[in-house]
Amino acid sequence: MSNKPLAPARVASEHTELKARNVSFGWEDTPLHWLPGDPFATHTINVLHLLLPAGERWFVHVFKQVLPHIRDERLRADVIGFIGQEAVHAAAHDDVLPHLRRQGLDPTPYTAQVDWVFERLLSDRTLPPGRARHWWLMERVAMIAAIEHYTAFLGDWILNADELDRRGADPVMLDLLRWHGAEEVEHRSVAFDLFLHVDGGYRRRVRTWATAFASLVWLWQRGVRFFMDNDPELVGAKASLGQFFRAGQQGVLPSTGAMLKSIPTYLSRTYHPSQEGSTAQAAAYLASSPGANGGARP
Ligand SMILES: [Fe+2]
Ligand SMILES: [Fe+2]
Repeated sequence: MSNKPLAPARVASEHTELKARNVSFGWEDTPLHWLPGDPFATHTINVLHLLLPAGERWFVHVFKQVLPHIRDERLRADVIGFIGQEAVHAAAHDDVLPHLRRQGLDPTPYTAQVDWVFERLLSDRTLPPGRARHWWLMERVAMIAAIEHYTAFLGDWILNADELDRRGADPVMLDLLRWHGAEEVEHRSVAFDLFLHVDGGYRRRVRTWATAFASLVWLWQRGVRFFMDNDPELVGAKASLGQFFRAGQQGVLPSTGAMLKSIPTYLSRTYHPSQEGSTAQAAAYLASSPGANGGARP
């Protein structure tokens, strides 16, 4: 495999200045199965609340270490904006956990595993100081770029997932997911641009994509099974791949076809995140999001 420089085709008009927004969501009236009658899709999306706080805090921790390596002022401003947004995302998803506990679903056994992945396995000290540790920092930047390909994919999906509205999904949960999804679309190029700036090697891009993708699938299916096994309102319910396919066909989860298509997209040498999703759509949602504009229940 050649490691020659990439030639990403950037769409300049998709760039926007980033800022963290104050948000407020009230969970008192959100039911356990916030997508009525569909605990599987509810819990598949609920895994985000367990993965993202630890994951996004890890993004922030890694990117703060990369700031001294940035030689481009606009990219530095983008990375600082990204760090601010991800810190708020982590806190907002964390706030859902007490609500889940009040409803009889204590996520601690699962979040302890997630914390171990991000705080131990992927920590600064995984490799010894010196060149190996610098290599590890670059590897983690590339991993974050790959993960951000999927957060942008999910952000674009949730902004367009009209079927969730038709099925009466809880408006506060939808607003949390769409505010977060819109900011993921807004900052979708930052981690990739940072990776291009500090390294950009194609072999590293492929390797870290494979690691990130396999890890996300592994953590996600464990999370869905955890929710289905521990949901106090379900007896003997099981998560299955068939349910996932069907939910994708119905439009209440991303479709398997779209997810598979996202793989060659990321691995194309001309790929740039600005080619996918719409900054204008994200901005329009953020301007109208109840949670990002005072916090009233929609
Ligand atoms: Fe985020
Ligand atoms: Fe993000």
